[in-house]
Amino acid sequence: MRRIKIFDTTLRDGEQSPGCSMNLPEKVEMARQLEKLGVDIIEAGFAIASPMDFKSVQKIARAVKSCTVASLARCVKGDIDAAWDAVKDAAHPRIHVFLATSDIHMEYKLQMTREQVLARISEMVAYARAKCGDIEFSAEDASRSDWAFLAQCYSNAVAAGATTLNVPDTVGYSTPQEMGDLIRYLRENVKGVENVDISVHCHNDLGMAVANTLSCIQAGASQVECTVNGIGERAGNASMEEIVMALHTRRDFYGAESGVNTKQIYRSSKLLSNITGVPIPPSKAIVGANAFAHESGIHQHGVIANAQTYEIMNSTDVGIPQNTMVLGKHSGKHALREKLESMGYELTDEELESVFTRFKVMADKKKNITGSDLEALVLHRRNNINPTCRLVGHSINTSTSDVLPTTSYVKLERDGEMMEEVAIGSGPVDAAFKAINRMLGMDIKLESFSLNAVTDGEDAIGEAVVKVTDGSESYTGTGLSTDILESSIRAYVNSINKIIEAGTAPD
Ligand code: KIV
Ligand code: ZN
Repeated sequence: MRRIKIFDTTLRDGEQSPGCSMNLPEKVEMARQLEKLGVDIIEAGFAIASPMDFKSVQKIARAVKSCTVASLARCVKGDIDAAWDAVKDAAHPRIHVFLATSDIHMEYKLQMTREQVLARISEMVAYARAKCGDIEFSAEDASRSDWAFLAQCYSNAVAAGATTLNVPDTVGYSTPQEMGDLIRYLRENVKGVENVDISVHCHNDLGMAVANTLSCIQAGASQVECTVNGIGERAGNASMEEIVMALHTRRDFYGAESGVNTKQIYRSSKLLSNITGVPIPPSKAIVGANAFAHESGIHQHGVIANAQTYEIMNSTDVGIPQNTMVLGKHSGKHALREKLESMGYELTDEELESVFTRFKVMADKKKNITGSDLEALVLHRRNNINPTCRLVGHSINTSTSDVLPTTSYVKLERDGEMMEEVAIGSGPVDAAFKAINRMLGMDIKLESFSLNAVTDGEDAIGEAVVKVTDGSESYTGTGLSTDILESSIRAYVNSINKIIEAGTAPD
């Protein structure tokens, strides 16, 4: 079996996509989950992009021990200096430098000649290598570059000390056949290629990112770049879970494996969706709600007789929790901790306390607490630990008549002080959000709102996700309850806590 390195760029290329931004604690939490997942390299960000990007790359570099941590840098000294400063404390640091090599990029974006590009690669890769022993060089828009020139660029990078050569299909233009042929060509034409890793980085503009990536593995690539849930610029990057499960399920065909613990896949996917507020499409391969569901009678009959009639993977292999009753209202903290540990969650005492408090409230309202319910509580645990504002209670009066308006009363605790307000709105959620804005004296606009059931059944938990803006930045808030109005208010309060934290966070 060939071992394929998984380079995860959820926190860099993924985070660049609209609606996917994360704050610092969220990025660190995601990085820790990627470490548990067992990816080989975490691209933690683009250190030069902003002080916040620098800080998050640095924090991740210091927090993560078993993966390599990389920062992206353009082929300029300032970028490389910032990237190195941010990753130098990592157990395994990497600098990832890139420069475009396609004619269109060189002429219109860089305004550089081929000779200048070749010289810049040699100079900047050597500059980075003098700081760090692990250097990745990416030829941006490689798939639309002239192959002979590209081979020269990569040969220069190897001569200057690059240890990984990344081949991006930056605009998602290539086909699997072309990408495979390109990798084979580079393996034959780049000087010193036998001493370095060949990596691929495919975008999904034509829906072929995963197919292109797998084709490159067949052609000899030893590293693949991908993101959780396939998030990324435009149509996204190649999806980590699809690549990993394709290698796992079709070992017979690819003869290659990754080091990913597949049982952590679903949890990673849910965590990202919970942090960004971007839902997982129901028919998304591997992690979508329908990925293991059988609706038609013929399929159900087949699966009952022998699961393999219609199932090529087992949902437990990717860590999807089983929705049988796992705990009830008489279960204590000890049982909860044991159950969570058996599901792979290790919580601090403070986190367990917070999950237990919410679990007790939920168990009073809901007969059976399932694996998915517990998972939702764990994913939301951050929301309830020392929040600046906490929901104390609410009361809603809805009306369909013109005479009686819909009103919402909300009571919050802010830094120990009780506050309450009532407002009229076009509906109960609108009224509640207006009451909160008024009581906190904040001018916050709702950008989007969604509500989803965490599990099936009439006593399902509702998860609300709001995106709000304070006029300059967007923030995502999530809330959980068996009462959907309460979930909505909790989500709004959570987004407000993030706005307040962002304004008061120390540098
Ligand atoms: O898509 C791309 O070309 C990139 C590079 C910076 C690797 O993200
Ligand atoms: Zn990219």
